[in-house]
Amino acid sequence: MKGIVLAGGSGSRLHPITRAVSKQLLPVYDKPMIYYPISVLLLAGIRDILVITTPHDQEQFVRLLGDGSQWGISITFGVQPAPDGLAQAFLIGAEHLAGGSAALVLGDNIFFGHGLGGLLDSAAAQVEREAGCTLFGYRVRHPERYGVAVFDDAGRLVDIEEKPAQPRSTLAITGLYFYDRDVVEVARSLRPSVRGELEITDLNRIYLQHDRARLVDLGRGAAWLDTGTHDTLMQAGQFVQVLQERQGITIACLEEVAMRRGFITAAQALEQAEQMGQSNYAEYLRRTAADYLAEGHQ
Ligand code: G1P
Repeated sequence: MKGIVLAGGSGSRLHPITRAVSKQLLPVYDKPMIYYPISVLLLAGIRDILVITTPHDQEQFVRLLGDGSQWGISITFGVQPAPDGLAQAFLIGAEHLAGGSAALVLGDNIFFGHGLGGLLDSAAAQVEREAGCTLFGYRVRHPERYGVAVFDDAGRLVDIEEKPAQPRSTLAITGLYFYDRDVVEVARSLRPSVRGELEITDLNRIYLQHDRARLVDLGRGAAWLDTGTHDTLMQAGQFVQVLQERQGITIACLEEVAMRRGFITAAQALEQAEQMGQSNYAEYLRRTAADYLAEGHQ
């Protein structure tokens, strides 16, 4: 399975901050926002990632992420010329996917939770095995801001509504989606919505209508954080800060995730920490990689 991170969009709800800087490069406490969705793909075992940006922001993403070799993965870049919808990611990424299955994560979505890696790993394996798509739901107080799951009396997923005025459940569809090899073809069949975009919700509905969509509830033990407004962006940063400070861990430390998944060795992680200078992030990585080495890992 290959990955796509969609990091386009004008970020207009965060103006004036995003007038000169892409939203997905803004800090969420101690690291750029896009580190969080990339860590989700690494946790799912994905090592081949296309990052889609606006044309004018691409250079900065390249400077930040490079070719991915520092994390033992491949990162390449694509461009979305205009914000024409999330499902366009599959048209832009068709060549990258080369007829295989796909994981799409939105560049502004932050996930955190115990056991998330295992859950994502098995969800990815299930899509490879059984085809179809897997969506991830999360209970929220304001479902009207998202795609929302609709269930029948037996609790089966029967529809998804995009930002409904009257949500029929509190389960939001998060910005992480796993699809089988048909996804490019399905995306090609989409027509723009009334707001002129190729909607991810329309794509998901097609899978659902063919009885090929699964929904995994992330549950109340997980966190799915919004970064769409000044308030929620700050809350996301505070969440990360509180957890890291309390537990002495670093969320979405990409070198650590890559090391634990065996994409790079502990010695390589340590070497990168040495080159990184004096930040808390670097200090954490140094400590973690040294411990990992001392435990007898490579
Ligand atoms: C998009 C999707 C929506 C999904 C959300 C998750 O909305 O259209 O279905 O719930 O991402 O972040 P956006 O926030 O781009 O308007």
